[in-house]
Amino acid sequence: MRMRFARMLAAGLAASAAAMAWAQAPAPNFASSNTSPQGVRSMASACAMCHGSEGRAAPNSTVAALAGRPKDEIVQSMAQFKSGQRPATIMHQIAKGYSDAEIAALAAYFSALPR
Ligand code: HEC
Repeated sequence: MRMRFARMLAAGLAASAAAMAWAQAPAPNFASSNTSPQGVRSMASACAMCHGSEGRAAPNSTVAALAGRPKDEIVQSMAQFKSGQRPATIMHQIAKGYSDAEIAALAAYFSALPR
């Protein structure tokens, strides 16, 4: 009985040591950059719930449409959201989740879509 308890204790300690080692490891890269055409479409789908499907805002939506907007304008807005220069309710958080390369790819994608 005592032996079994000791073995369980040892197993528990080993597991928590492993958990601690994992916690100290560098953060895993959950969202690696993917600017292939499919990658960009899948990134853009994350914008659709607010900016409308294919960047076309739903009727009466207060959120701006992205389709057909000049690429530079989208890149600039995203950079300003990211730096906090442009006040926002949500986009300052969202913009931080994308690299400059991803933002450029998203901007090119939306600017090429018909309004
Ligand atoms: C949860 C809703 C939501 C999601 C998801 C979202 N946006 Fe936004 N977006 C907003 C809101 C709201 C604004 C107005 C600024 C603010 O209050 O954050 C905005 C503003 C913008 C603007 C500036 C538009 C203008 O002309 O004023 C751009 C560009 C933009 N978003 C791009 C994106 C892109 C690209 C994605 C996907 C990566 C995205 N947004 C995802 C809600 C969202």
